[in-house]
Amino acid sequence: MAGIKLKNIQKSYLVEDRNVPVLNGIDLDIPHGQFTVILGQSGCGKTTLLRLTGGLEPADSGEILWEGNHKTAFVFQEPRLMPWLTVWDNVVFGLKKSEQNKEKIQSLIGTVGLSGFEKAYPSQLSGGMKQRAAIARALAYEPDFIMMDEPFAALDYFTREQMQKELLRVQKVKHSSILFVTHSIDEALILGDRIVVIERGMVKKIYPVETPAEERNLLDDGFISLKRDIINNLNFIN
Ligand SMILES: Nc1ncnc2c1ncn2[C@@H]1O[C@H](COP(=O)(O)OP(=O)(O)OP(=O)(O)O)[C@@H](O)[C@H]1O
Ligand SMILES: [Mg+2]
Repeated sequence: MAGIKLKNIQKSYLVEDRNVPVLNGIDLDIPHGQFTVILGQSGCGKTTLLRLTGGLEPADSGEILWEGNHKTAFVFQEPRLMPWLTVWDNVVFGLKKSEQNKEKIQSLIGTVGLSGFEKAYPSQLSGGMKQRAAIARALAYEPDFIMMDEPFAALDYFTREQMQKELLRVQKVKHSSILFVTHSIDEALILGDRIVVIERGMVKKIYPVETPAEERNLLDDGFISLKRDIINNLNFIN
């Protein structure tokens, strides 16, 4: 299965009769089976790029080519759970009855650290717990393409680290493609096979990261200089 190709994507929004350009000619290949990270400052157009790529919104111009069939799941910047459904029912929401393997769902809920909260409603969960339920819902669908918009931003350091590891494990086992938005340089360096830096609605630079994710140590000289390069050249605030 091939990937997704974005060709000269333009998008602007009308705000009080003013045309605000957000994406100004994005050219990007998102190969299948890779972990592609979109990195950029707040407001640079990351969520817009993800929404357009996933077909949730049309581009003004340009082309988005999906090669092959993809079973796609989204994790949005906010959890978007159904408030009237329990954690369990939210997680199985997109699944047919025949696809609802109890043991698998239970194990997934355990993986995201929500065992014991299966019957809780979203209003009874913390922000980070809601986000973890949303991640479990996306993974339960067993997608081959996962689009994630700052999914770990609401999590504490240790939970975040654990979820990053789990996501890398899932990606390795399922050979899935992941398009992952973050504004954290460290997170991009931990996860990405390729780090796509977006600035002012354009692809500023693409950094391939060759070291396998499980062997990465951000304190290694190579990673420190890569991080410095991203910060220095692109004026980032992590
Ligand atoms: N529906 C909309 N109507 C008008 N303007 C919008 C709309 N959606 C996004 N924008 C504008 O587009 C720009 C990019 O927004 P976007 O949400 O893509 O940024 P982002 O990179 O995801 O930021 P963050 O890291 O804060 O989530 C912002 O200036 C925002 O105000
Ligand atoms: Mg965003």
